[in-house]
Amino acid sequence: MPLKPQVLVARKIFPDVVARLHAHFEVQEPADDEPLPQPELIRRLQGKQGLFATGTEQIDAALLDACPDLRAVCLMTVGYNNVDLDACTARGVMVSNAPDVLTETTADFGFALMMAAARRIAEGERFLRRGEWRQWSVDLLAGSDVHGATLGILGMGRIGMAIARRGALGFGMPVIYHNRSRLPAEQEASVDARWVSKTELLQQADHLVLVVPYSASSHHLIQAQDLALMKRSATLTNIARGGVVDDAALAQALRQGVIAAAGLDVFEGEPQVHPDLLDLPNVVLTPHIASASLPTRRAMCNLAVDNLIAALTGQSPSTPLNPQVLTARR
Ligand code: DGY
Repeated sequence: MPLKPQVLVARKIFPDVVARLHAHFEVQEPADDEPLPQPELIRRLQGKQGLFATGTEQIDAALLDACPDLRAVCLMTVGYNNVDLDACTARGVMVSNAPDVLTETTADFGFALMMAAARRIAEGERFLRRGEWRQWSVDLLAGSDVHGATLGILGMGRIGMAIARRGALGFGMPVIYHNRSRLPAEQEASVDARWVSKTELLQQADHLVLVVPYSASSHHLIQAQDLALMKRSATLTNIARGGVVDDAALAQALRQGVIAAAGLDVFEGEPQVHPDLLDLPNVVLTPHIASASLPTRRAMCNLAVDNLIAALTGQSPSTPLNPQVLTARR
């Protein structure tokens, strides 16, 4: 009987999802839920054809060269900035991500974070728990309105559109967006969205949500000079990736009242968080959980498993990032 392909699961995931892998492969699972240091990841990948990956493993040229048997890296995340896609393609390694299944869940969370920042929800909760709520006052923790305010979206992909829908259809928000390329007219019309320059976006948005993928060109896309263009009453929400925002500049802007508030789910160098953000009252901080509803995390894992099974059994994965690798193999 031919040997089954070997697969490494990089992090602890749902047991029934791993069971699906066991039906097709020899599977190595992690003993605990600690991220694997790079040398250990490379060690465990020896002789493996497939990797079930999350957003935390670094798949770079050095790893690929050290793991010549690897044929497929299947991510359970939609973001793939931890993978050197060109290096994978050059070595014939198929990479897939997990788009679509997390769109609505992530948009829900982005909207919640924006609302929490605008309406000072986390600040109010901390205030109450500290026992500081002694009396009513007319402007106690008064924030800014979300309904009817201008929603600005930087990076109008699937998740950006889902946030735009929530704003336009649910909250009567005029929607403006900036993207490298303009959306087709019918897509714009579905949420009445208007393309503007990045400068106009910063100047006009009451609530700015960042959903742009991270790459060298989006590194520190929002810096001090960008924040200075925003309204003093504005909020900024980042559910994209740490590194899109210069967190030190944002902390300074929040401290100085350059903008009113922020909601951040992602951080440069996470799980470390820039210390200047930690003691600010006007920022809501969450640990990269925008896609973390149980049904969605399961769907993300299952999609990665579907892709691994397809890639290593001669079928077509549904969401490959470098499909040319599959064509070249045939
Ligand atoms: C993604 O899928 O890229 C998310 O950021 C992970 O939660």
